[in-house]
Amino acid sequence: MEAYLKLIEEGLSAYDFGKKPAMLYDPVRYVISLGGKRLRPVLTLMACNLFDDNYKKALSPAMAIEVFNNFTLLHDDIMDNAPLRRGCPTVHEKWDPNTAILSGDVMLIKAYELFLDVELKHIKNLLNKFNSCAAEVCEGQQLDMIFETLPTVPEAEYIEMIRLKTAALLAFSLEAGAIIGGAQEVESNKLYEYGINIGIGFQLKDDLLDVFADAAKFGKQVGGDIISNKKTYLLIKALELAQGATLRELQSWGAKKEFDTAEKVNAVKNIYSDLHIKDICESKMNQYFSNAFSLFDAIAADAERKQPLNQLTSELIEREK
Ligand code: IPE
Ligand code: IPE
Ligand code: MG
Ligand code: MG
Ligand code: MG
Repeated sequence: MEAYLKLIEEGLSAYDFGKKPAMLYDPVRYVISLGGKRLRPVLTLMACNLFDDNYKKALSPAMAIEVFNNFTLLHDDIMDNAPLRRGCPTVHEKWDPNTAILSGDVMLIKAYELFLDVELKHIKNLLNKFNSCAAEVCEGQQLDMIFETLPTVPEAEYIEMIRLKTAALLAFSLEAGAIIGGAQEVESNKLYEYGINIGIGFQLKDDLLDVFADAAKFGKQVGGDIISNKKTYLLIKALELAQGATLRELQSWGAKKEFDTAEKVNAVKNIYSDLHIKDICESKMNQYFSNAFSLFDAIAADAERKQPLNQLTSELIEREK
């Protein structure tokens, strides 16, 4: 794990994103330098290493995926009106929304630039897959925005939305690593499916943390999803299970235009507690992680090489940020 992270950090800090105007590129360096888990590029390197000792040849595409993810975060934080990212002000807060839009745009270009630095025989296949994945992320993000405005959303539509906005990129990160490592298509497909399951579990955990995380560790605003009426798994289940006065209270918080944010977050959180929503969401998340582990077992690679990915996946279940 340490070796993978070191390689990624060195790669990102050495990369020349661009210089002038500083107001375009400073936010890029800013958000990248704030770190984060670097989950996706680590997945790419680990997946490559399942099939090839020379996992360094996946570094450039791994960085591309991390830069792409950071681009989505710049835009996502505008869309979600988020003040904090990785414990620091978001780009649209530190600068302004227009800056965050354009710096995000140039990061998408840089992601493609980084992708070009892969063995020629893989470029067309990888870029095709990346394009499909990137469009899915946008589709998921748009559904996420539409769902904010709806009174509630069926569970299956929520799962599909998070498959698109989050799981598709985790899955692609693994698939890309496997392809670069020379895996057979059956194996890279299995890694993709494994990634979809991890990704859905990962977003369920993200939704949980948004309500229940320790603010000092989380690095993002706790309660942001409640404030913006996000149709998270927690809210969907609470709307399904609440009855009578509790249901009316929950619905009235969703309908209020003016409110004290701390009061709303507290009130909705209390309803979640009464309805045991945390347990329900955790058990849903565990189902996806357990699917992931089963799919991973079926991948034909050396057991010792598989260990780091298994370990990383387990850690995602317990993560605090
Ligand atoms: C945030 O991704 C976007 C989601 C899909 C929840 P991460 O939780 O991986 O963010 P960082 O990179 O660790 O900050
Ligand atoms: C974002 O989901 C997924 C993206 C494609 C960026 P969230 O909006 O829940 O991610 P966070 O919580 O802001 O990181
Ligand atoms: Mg967000
Ligand atoms: Mg969002
Ligand atoms: Mg979130």
